[in-house]
Amino acid sequence: MLSPLPRVAVLATGGTIAGACVAGVSYQAGILNVNDLLGVLPGAQDWVSLHAEQVANVGSQDISAAIWFDLALRLQELAADQAVQGCVITHGTDTMEETAWLLHLVLGSATPVVLTGAMRPADAFGADGPANLYDALAVASDPQSQGRGVMVVMDGRIHGARDVQKMSAGELGAFASPNRGVLGSVSRRQVVFHSSPAPKLPQLPDISSGSSSAGSCFPIHAIQTMARVPVLYVHGDMDLPTLDAVLDAGQDGVVVAGVGHGNASQAVLDRLERAAAEGCVVVRSTRTSKGRVWRNGEVDDDARGFVVANDLNPAKARLLLALLLQQTRDVSQIQAAFNSL
Ligand code: SIN
Repeated sequence: MLSPLPRVAVLATGGTIAGACVAGVSYQAGILNVNDLLGVLPGAQDWVSLHAEQVANVGSQDISAAIWFDLALRLQELAADQAVQGCVITHGTDTMEETAWLLHLVLGSATPVVLTGAMRPADAFGADGPANLYDALAVASDPQSQGRGVMVVMDGRIHGARDVQKMSAGELGAFASPNRGVLGSVSRRQVVFHSSPAPKLPQLPDISSGSSSAGSCFPIHAIQTMARVPVLYVHGDMDLPTLDAVLDAGQDGVVVAGVGHGNASQAVLDRLERAAAEGCVVVRSTRTSKGRVWRNGEVDDDARGFVVANDLNPAKARLLLALLLQQTRDVSQIQAAFNSL
């Protein structure tokens, strides 16, 4: 008897992969639906059994905590279904890395979740969406992908949720994992991972609440009420009244996308130190897209009461901090969590 085909659930959320020309002038993300996307993958049904769902149909600039919550809940259900080998999410590329990281933190299952998208709309010459989706199905259905958490597959490369970043606004090869490197590659359904055994799924034993799903850091419900954490982009000649306005608006925390090693002017650091003393958790990251912010390097974090994001980028540091703030406001615990992930 033939063994059954691996079953992969495809959850569509929109993006350029589902984008098309509107009124002959430009393209709009999120026009095609999930069946349109799967309909242009001839032959895929011969090696994978597909289950399709439309979760949203938006440009990823409009991804919200509500959509993250819906996705996470549905993925949790699918992971509990023994018949499902893996899940693929089609997603706009602009915030794909944020969705990947957030889901990585709240899903603890061994079932692989693979995000993919496209740099060119579905009706463009040389559209890259079908090839990326084909590759994502190959990775999601491959037994080697079990236990690796959430991944991003773009342009033949397999990235981990923690490190992946969109590095270019328009190039086909827009995605990289600049600090830790890619997890592997995929071509013509051949999947190769460079690391073995699989990287650890995230675990925060000291501060995780008992209600987290098994193996995950945070309960999925934490997404519903995300703490207020803006990202502050540092530049030369910063305007302090603007910074005051942001901090005086009552933030739970702030992530600083600092220059170089996560730095800012003395005046900005002093204002942030005051915010930290008043209970706003300040996390220093770098706006450089690559490299590490060292604790007590150029800035005396101990004296100022700051946390460093290490090599986590500002958008992802923001998500991690927002989730952590639901469990603790203790700066040393928050630093320990950043160090452990
Ligand atoms: C989006 O992120 O939805 C638009 C851009 C893209 O998907 O490449």
